[in-house]
Amino acid sequence: MTKFGAFKDKTSRDLFVEAFVEMLESVDKGINPKEIEAMYVGNFTSDLFENQSHIAPILASWIGVNPIPATRVEDACASAGVALRQGILAIASGLYDIVLVGGVEKMTDLATEKVTDSLAIAADSQYEIPAGFTFPGFYAAMATSYMDAYDVTPETFMKVGIKNHNNGSLNEKAQFGAKISTLMEARRASAAKKGLPVPEWKDELAFLSDDRANPIVAWPMRLYDCSPISDGAAVVLLVSEDLAKKFSDNPIYVVGSGQASDGALHDRETLNSIPAAKLAGEQAYQMAGITPQDIDFAEVHDCFTIAEIIATEDLGFFERGKGGIAAEENETSRTGKTPINLSGGLKSKGHPVGASGVGQVVEVWKQLRGTAGERQLAGNLKYGLTHNVGGTGQTCVVHIFEKRN
Ligand code: COA
Repeated sequence: MTKFGAFKDKTSRDLFVEAFVEMLESVDKGINPKEIEAMYVGNFTSDLFENQSHIAPILASWIGVNPIPATRVEDACASAGVALRQGILAIASGLYDIVLVGGVEKMTDLATEKVTDSLAIAADSQYEIPAGFTFPGFYAAMATSYMDAYDVTPETFMKVGIKNHNNGSLNEKAQFGAKISTLMEARRASAAKKGLPVPEWKDELAFLSDDRANPIVAWPMRLYDCSPISDGAAVVLLVSEDLAKKFSDNPIYVVGSGQASDGALHDRETLNSIPAAKLAGEQAYQMAGITPQDIDFAEVHDCFTIAEIIATEDLGFFERGKGGIAAEENETSRTGKTPINLSGGLKSKGHPVGASGVGQVVEVWKQLRGTAGERQLAGNLKYGLTHNVGGTGQTCVVHIFEKRN
């Protein structure tokens, strides 16, 4: 995958090529691109972000794999996760043995308000957008509903942000790879240098509760509760089980896949869980023949901090209503019982929406192969999980990966 961030001089095509080349270099025994038989690429809306539709064949041409079938998959922020599933189904059908799956988004060419409008079309344009909803607003509504139902405060959400920035500080590909404590100290130093009063935040929570340091975007979601606006691409190579050892002595196996859909948020019985995520997770566990307790670590869709808490409940890691307490008690940190978002998650690593689902897979692949560098989780890891959400949960796709040797 590319680094996620804001890259003024790069288009989607440049980013995709960069990720593709890194993928080629990562195949242990090498691959000739001519062996690739089909390609699925997640992309939410290059139409609005870059005035470029029909992007898959163009990307295929830039990486030199035409005339293989090249298909764009669009399911909002779950586009890449669903592209992965399409690749898996294509191999499972027996039609192909070697499939390229990727995702790409170039968001930073537009101003924030235009990006916000462009993202909002993933919601219900007949009922929700006219009511004034944008994505920070939707997740803020989910957060207030969660606070109403369970005994948590905005500080609970902040703990998720602190943890993900801690993790992201170990990831060279992260867009915002600074710890919150580092940002706090930098603010103090900057005030001192300018001869201004130096703020007396007693800890990171005090810093994050200060409106000047961490402005409210849509209460209770503040700046450091939101994933950023990002550019980036990620690519993985899928091959049939029979061929895996031709490319690597240490392949990672896809053992579970689930996907479900739902109506828009205003139509649901509850705002504080995502039923499609629960269903997708159940399907994936059933296919893999395992339970949530077998998962060693997970990359979940923390587009906003509340989303991570809800995900850990929907996926069965914690009981309903206990995900917030688990986050507060550091159970989801690197050293906790269920490490979540070791990459820094969308919050710190960045969220180029149509690429995020495959970006998650790259992290799981690295962790399971023991190549995640400084952020490598200790122990003998067997199962990693990815959870990728489109919109407010109209789409959710979950995958489980296994290391066998
Ligand atoms: N987390 C941490 N820092 C962030 C950040 C984020 N999400 N977004 C921006 N920043 C930083 C910038 O680096 C900048 O820092 P500096 O002043 O030290 O240079 C500062 O905050 C302001 O950046 P700016 O780009 O002006 O912010 P913005 O107000 O235009 O955008 C958000 C901030 C939160 C509104 C925007 O990131 C956003 O809309 N995020 C949500 C994206 C989304 O909805 N995705 C789909 C999810 S379903």
